[in-house]
Order: sequence, then C-alpha cells, then structure tokens
Amino acid sequence: MIKSISVIGAGTMGNGIAHVFAQNNFKVTLIDVNAAQLEIALSTIATNLDRQIARGTVTQEQKQSALANISTATDIIAGVRNAELVVEAATEDLDTKIKIFKLLDIAAPAGCIFATNTSSISITKIASVTKRPELVIGMHFMNPVPVMKLVEIINGYSTTKEVSDLIVELSKQLGKIPCVVNDYPGFIANRILTPMINEAIYSLYEGVAGVEEIDTIMKLGMAHPMGPLRLADFIGLDVCLSILNILHKGFGNPKYAPCPLLVNMVAAGKLGIKNGEGFYSYTAGAKFPMVNEKFK
Ligand SMILES: NC(=O)c1ccc[n+]([C@@H]2O[C@H](COP(=O)([O-])OP(=O)(O)OC[C@H]3O[C@@H](n4cnc5c(N)ncnc54)[C@H](O)[C@@H]3O)[C@@H](O)[C@H]2O)c1
Repeated sequence: MIKSISVIGAGTMGNGIAHVFAQNNFKVTLIDVNAAQLEIALSTIATNLDRQIARGTVTQEQKQSALANISTATDIIAGVRNAELVVEAATEDLDTKIKIFKLLDIAAPAGCIFATNTSSISITKIASVTKRPELVIGMHFMNPVPVMKLVEIINGYSTTKEVSDLIVELSKQLGKIPCVVNDYPGFIANRILTPMINEAIYSLYEGVAGVEEIDTIMKLGMAHPMGPLRLADFIGLDVCLSILNILHKGFGNPKYAPCPLLVNMVAAGKLGIKNGEGFYSYTAGAKFPMVNEKFK
C-alpha cells in the first residue's frame, strides 16, 4: 500500500496534486527548484483548504492534518529518498522532464513508481531514459486539481498492468474518477479538446463568426461550461499551440496544423488570461472577460 509520495514541481498543478494526496492521508514531499514557489504553494494549499472549510467539505482538524502531511524540499535527491510514488508536475518541457527522470532513476528507491502529469509529452519517451520503463505511467490530473474529478491515466508502451491497476486504485482513493488510455500524441483529453479549440480559432480567422458568437454557440448549443476561445485563453495560447504542434508532428496529419491566427497571437505575446490579453481582454480581472477590441 503506497503511503509516501513525492511531487516534483510546486506550480499550478503540483500544489493541487500535493493538496489532494495530503488531504487523503498520504505523506507528501513537495519539491521545487524554486524555494519561493514552495512558500507560495503552501499558502495556496492553505487558502484552498479554507475554501473547502467554508463550503463544509473539510473540517478545521482535517485542514491541519493535511498541512501536517506536507513537507518541502528544493533538492530532488533528498526529496525522493523514501518515495514509493513520484508524481512529476514540473514545467512542460521535454529536456526538463528527461533531466528529472534520469535523476529520479538514480535517487529514488528500486520499485518506486514514476508518474508524470504531462499534458502532451510521450510517456514512452520519458520512460525510455530510465531503467524501469515498466514502472513509468502518465497520471494526468485536471486543473484545478482539488475540484476536477478526472484523472487520465496513460499507459506507456512498457507500463505493466499491475502498475496501471495500482494507479487506478490510488486515484479512486483520492476521490477521483480514473480513465485509462494508451500513449499516443495528446492522449485522449488533448487530442479531442485542442483540435476543437483550433477549429474555433479557424472559424474566427475565416470570418465565419465573432468571438462572442462562437463561444455562445458552444456554451448554449453543446452545454459546454465555457466557450472554446475563452477556454483557450484560460489554458494559455502558448500551451494550446505547443500541444497542436505535438499532435501535428506526432501524427504527421495536416488536420492538426495550428491556425495561423493562433501562431501570430503567440508570436505577439498575447497568451490569454496569464498576461491579460487573448481572444478576450482581462483588464477588469480574469473573471470579467471582454471581447478583445481587435476582434470586434
Ligand atoms: N496548468 C494546467 O492547466 C495543466 C493541466 C494538466 C496538466 N498540466 C501539466 O502539469 C505540468 C506542470 O504544469 P503547471 O501548469 O503546474 O506548470 P507551472 O509552470 O505552474 O509549474 C511548474 C513548476 O515546476 C518547477 N520546476 C521546473 N523545473 C524543475 C525541476 N528540475 N525540479 C523541480 N521543479 C522544477 C518550476 O519552478 C515551477 O514551479 C506540466 O507538465 C503541464 O503540462 C498542466
């Protein structure tokens, strides 16, 4: 029975992953190269637990016990020494992940399972830099982690059924709903979502409809909680572009080619909510999008 988890990367996803494990009585070591980020992550987790208390889903005692379950480290070697499972949630960059997994393979105990939260990088490629590819798996949590129920579990080419079954059980222990898929570009979530976003951007680019019309049609007609252009701003236009490039290269199929408007917006540094301007502008805050003047 796994009890000791190390989470690598204390950014948006890493703090949420540490939160859900700690809340469910696992011992968590949260690791980041950036000490300031670890402080921010701990305070974000405390604030998010307070929100759960306000909603009545967590008690004050459970909050204290969750926070007591988390320790931090800036050094991977020290931070994974006793890990039974490592969940990697560092920056989405192949070289960064390869360096981390090579180091993990040396520093973590034999038998320790390595999961990655990557949105799009090949699990098989990451596994290939370790001497334990059968113990490497994708554990793709959704943002925000404490709220979203899905965990997309991705079996690499060499992942064993035992490891896959164990990660399914573990996800259930976190109160999540796991879905198991195989390792091909974009897995399932991003293979389906990102081309839909790209098609919405093409529709805008070709003048078929405006930003508001496209998003309203998908919200009211398809019951999506958020239209695809607003969702693209939420995810980050650079992230959408990078996933489309992975699909395009991985399948060699022109249907995944990113829309030139998306390419231009990323080149111009218009990345969505994270820097205040995408298909919408967010001068009044992230929750108050106004259609970007450029698209009126
Ligand atoms: N943001 C999302 O909505 C989302 C959703 C699902 C999956 N993901 C995936 O989760 C992973 C993390 O994404 P994020 O949005 O949390 O990124 P982020 O930029 O918010 O955080 C990444 C963290 O990793 C740290 N880091 C970088 N190199 C490191 C190293 N060598 N050792 C330790 N820490 C290191 C950085 O300091 C940073 O704090 C990515 O693989 C991403 O594709 C993101």
